[in-house]
Amino acid sequence: MSNDQTLQNVNDNSEQLTSTKQPSTSPGDGNSSIGRRSFMKRLGLAGAAALPVGALLTSQTRASAEDRDHGTRLNAGDAAIIRFLAAIEILETDLWQQYNELALGNAAFQQGLITLDGDMPTYVNQNTRDEFSHQNFLNAYLVSKSRKAVSLEPFRKLPSSQATGSNKTAKRLTNLMNLNVDTSWFLRYRLAGNPDFGDTFAQIVNLQNVPGIPNQDLPLPSDLTNGFQAQFIANVAGFHFATVEQGGSSLYTSFLTKASSLEVLRIVGSIGGTETMHFQTWSDKAGNAPSLMDSHNNVIFPELPHAPDPTPDGIDHSDPTDTNQIMPAPCKFISASLPLCSIIRPTSTQQAGAMATVAFFTTMGLFQGQSPGFFDFIASLAEEADAARRD
Ligand SMILES: [Fe+2]
Ligand SMILES: [Fe+2]
Repeated sequence: MSNDQTLQNVNDNSEQLTSTKQPSTSPGDGNSSIGRRSFMKRLGLAGAAALPVGALLTSQTRASAEDRDHGTRLNAGDAAIIRFLAAIEILETDLWQQYNELALGNAAFQQGLITLDGDMPTYVNQNTRDEFSHQNFLNAYLVSKSRKAVSLEPFRKLPSSQATGSNKTAKRLTNLMNLNVDTSWFLRYRLAGNPDFGDTFAQIVNLQNVPGIPNQDLPLPSDLTNGFQAQFIANVAGFHFATVEQGGSSLYTSFLTKASSLEVLRIVGSIGGTETMHFQTWSDKAGNAPSLMDSHNNVIFPELPHAPDPTPDGIDHSDPTDTNQIMPAPCKFISASLPLCSIIRPTSTQQAGAMATVAFFTTMGLFQGQSPGFFDFIASLAEEADAARRD
């Protein structure tokens, strides 16, 4: 989808919002004598009347508030939140685009992903599409509010993979060749601790300085001698997908308490929800990554915990670390004295906010090779976003 098309879509949506605005129906506005039946008719619901009047009035009031909100300018805090999110989505789009090219166009990488799930290449493609929509929407939204769109184009200088499928001459913003993949989310989402309470979690797989994409053509994973190479990279990618998306889930949630306008709150909550849908999918698929040995029989990827066997005796024998424990286990939230609750974690500014996200991606190796100007720019956006306070 082109930027122009997206801008057009945003404009179309704002027109629809305006056209749904209904006239005032307060008791003192002179219309009270029209009565309920006429009021329902005006709404075009005379025959349906499935909703109680109270619900209709409530939704009308809400729509009006949203209309008013869309017409107003963003305050500094809201603009900073959207600007940082636009930058992060541009970076996400860049990394997902690299994965997408190889998932669809490189046979060895594709086969490796399919070992994790037959639909993996399609899911990579869908996730990439979603990231394009996030970056395009957020920048168009800024422009619709008379704010400057965020551009990282001056920093697009990193090389591409030279493997078949990759757009080899394209310049990138992110580096997927030497990743330090934090896999601690695997245990964090299966146990009752929460980083916001100071809890820490071990890595389920140690993935330091490893590639998430092939840089050259490799034998197919089915090759008995050297097939492990492509499969290892696909395993790394499978975990990296979830690592990136759980970070996005926490980041968006960290902004919920900072947004001032209802519209920005709606944007943060709505896009954040899709980051969580991405994470949920990838956290399931990563559990299917097979153990691997190299050609010298050295284990290069460990066996993940087994899913529990069926329990005909009715006793729960499941280990919380098993691969199929993919729903977010209840954990500490708000106060350790409250009951455990199944939630996104962490969500504090310190653990999950903008600066924490930049540090997380930097440690991951995603920005390896980037210029000092890039780090200055992204850090300044992050500082301003973290400093946003709800009006
Ligand atoms: Fe996104
Ligand atoms: Fe995402």
